[in-house]
Amino acid sequence: MALRVAVIGVRAIGNTHAEVYQTDDLAELVAVCDIVPERADSAAARWDCRAYYSVEDLLRNEDLDAVSVTTGGFENGSWHYEPVMECLAARKHVLCEKPISNNIQHAREMVRAAREAGVYFGINLNHRFVPPAAKAKQWVQEGRLGHLLLTNMTMWIDNPNETSPWFHLRALHPHSLDIMRYYCGDVKRVQAFANRAPKPDGGQRVCFSNAQVNLEFANGVVGHLTGSYDAAPRHNLERCEVMGTEGRFILDNCYEELTFYPRRGEELTVIRNSIMGGLSGFGATFRTRIHRWLEQVTAGVPREQIEASGEDGLAVQEAIEAAIRSIEGGTVEEVPAAV
Ligand SMILES: NC(=O)c1ccc[n+]([C@@H]2O[C@H](COP(=O)([O-])OP(=O)(O)OC[C@H]3O[C@@H](n4cnc5c(N)ncnc54)[C@H](O)[C@@H]3O)[C@@H](O)[C@H]2O)c1
Repeated sequence: MALRVAVIGVRAIGNTHAEVYQTDDLAELVAVCDIVPERADSAAARWDCRAYYSVEDLLRNEDLDAVSVTTGGFENGSWHYEPVMECLAARKHVLCEKPISNNIQHAREMVRAAREAGVYFGINLNHRFVPPAAKAKQWVQEGRLGHLLLTNMTMWIDNPNETSPWFHLRALHPHSLDIMRYYCGDVKRVQAFANRAPKPDGGQRVCFSNAQVNLEFANGVVGHLTGSYDAAPRHNLERCEVMGTEGRFILDNCYEELTFYPRRGEELTVIRNSIMGGLSGFGATFRTRIHRWLEQVTAGVPREQIEASGEDGLAVQEAIEAAIRSIEGGTVEEVPAAV
């Protein structure tokens, strides 16, 4: 039977979630909710479901199994906490947009509350839900790379928006760090540098729009992340490289191309996104991620098996906060465990 779901916060990304639920057989979209009534009404008309203007009303009137919280806020994350906590208190399964929160205390509370409520809590870390990422994961698990040694990640996009010094790190790099953790596990220590791009009309950006984060993982892998909000608009870049004693892979532009380079031998393995039946674009990652969430909730998997869980969302935020402390203090910082 389809899960009865609602979407809370229906602007750009909330409508993307609503569209996925509308077309996925595992879900029945029964309602949308936004504190701006016109947004709730227009999404309800578009997706043929009921509109609510408060989470309290939504929870009182609908018998829901799960919700998406797509509310955003300061540094794209400050409005997630309240609706997530209300829904967890009502024992609803919650899929929350990234960043889980821009406030690390709130993020920790949310993960704890989900655990205590015994419900599923997922984060929309959608970049890893693509076939080539899964294939690369399989190579790592099968030992095709041998003993893991190094990883490099690049995520450069164009985002001229400004909210705060740490907007770029907190809002974008949950994605890149999640990909790195997907292959290399928990991050143990970080050391970071950052700069602010000049503005065309003089002065500097408010946010540290470029960053270099050196990482040491708990399993001994070392590597780095370079991130930017100043990339040329038509040349966004997302590239992950992982190297082991037997070879390395490069995953290019999220889902476009995966290449394995064996340490010994000349024959590469290349997997390309197919124009016939492959991902149609970045938007399709919402479909693949949300479908996996619906599958896992429907199947009733053990809580710790939820992919891109609240704990994963918290772990990347802990690494980001450690990187910020490192930039501020010129220090090497330990990353607390996401418990
Ligand atoms: N996973 C991805 O690839 C990806 C891409 C872009 C954005 N995002 C994330 O998606 C989220 C939403 O982004 P957006 O651009 O649609 O944000 P937005 O600010 O344009 O829209 C948020 C909506 O939520 C509503 N809202 C706020 N608090 C609410 C509450 N308590 N109850 C009900 N409604 C509430 C607002 O009125 C608004 O309509 C952000 O967290 C962002 O980081 C994720």
